[in-house]
Amino acid sequence: MNKRVAIVTGGIGGLGTEICKQLAASGRQVIAADLGNRQERLGAFREETKEFNGHIVFAPADVANFDDCAAMVKHVAEKYGSIDIVVNAAGITRDTSLKKMSQAQWSDLMHVNLDGVFNMCRNVVDGMSDRGFGRIVNISSVNGQTGQFGQTNYSAAKAGMHGFTMALAREVAKKGVTVNSVSPGYCRTEMVMKVPEDIRNQIVAQIPVGRLGEPSDIARTVAFLTADDAGFITGANVPVNGGYFMSF
Ligand code: CAA
Repeated sequence: MNKRVAIVTGGIGGLGTEICKQLAASGRQVIAADLGNRQERLGAFREETKEFNGHIVFAPADVANFDDCAAMVKHVAEKYGSIDIVVNAAGITRDTSLKKMSQAQWSDLMHVNLDGVFNMCRNVVDGMSDRGFGRIVNISSVNGQTGQFGQTNYSAAKAGMHGFTMALAREVAKKGVTVNSVSPGYCRTEMVMKVPEDIRNQIVAQIPVGRLGEPSDIARTVAFLTADDAGFITGANVPVNGGYFMSF
């Protein structure tokens, strides 16, 4: 069998980089899709992933733009073969209380965090269904489950992602395609380190495990959900939050 081909959006970011590495380590050809103008970060990413040689490559794409996603998916399919795995990890924050939130802070976030999931899935789902295999993982957030002060936009998009996940999971279940979400808690990423230190410390104090999550904690969950033999897990949300929010 050819190597499974995986696209990870937000692929050069905090969680994305580690997801790319774990997928490549489990034998996948990985395409890290991200904005093309992050030159400094891209250099660091190339350094961090150089041991994987050509098994992790970068492809520029803006997930907020449907045509960009379509073009990137076409390019990847032509160069590496059909796309088997998509991990939607591209996400931004625009934290502020609703009373101060501008329309741009709402819509910019929705375009990336929620439209981005549609833009990617819409462009790969037919191919996956036709070939009878696919693994889609949407990186949501604990804050989509609980809400967070200053995150009406982010919490809405992340909760919306899970509704999308369950609906699409039903549509493609008979085609061998699984669709799941992972809800990370607070992890050691640039995004979380931007939260003011006093607020972040208060949050960490509420995590039973007693620490921030590591990107590898999320990546190993993604590797599990995208395995060939994970075909009976679909429409699920897997919380990975150190016990910060427990539910069943
Ligand atoms: N709970 C209750 N009250 C709070 C509060 C909270 N968490 N945070 C601030 N307040 C209070 C302040 O004390 C202040 O009170 P006063 O008006 O009486 O002084 C008031 O609310 C501030 O309100 P503002 O409208 O001025 O708030 P703001 O627009 O300045 O925004 C904030 C505050 C920057 C959003 C800040 O609350 C914050 O950073 N919160 C944390 C946000 C957060 O956790 N983001 C996660 C980013 S990482 C991520 O999202 C990854 C993931 O998936 C986990």
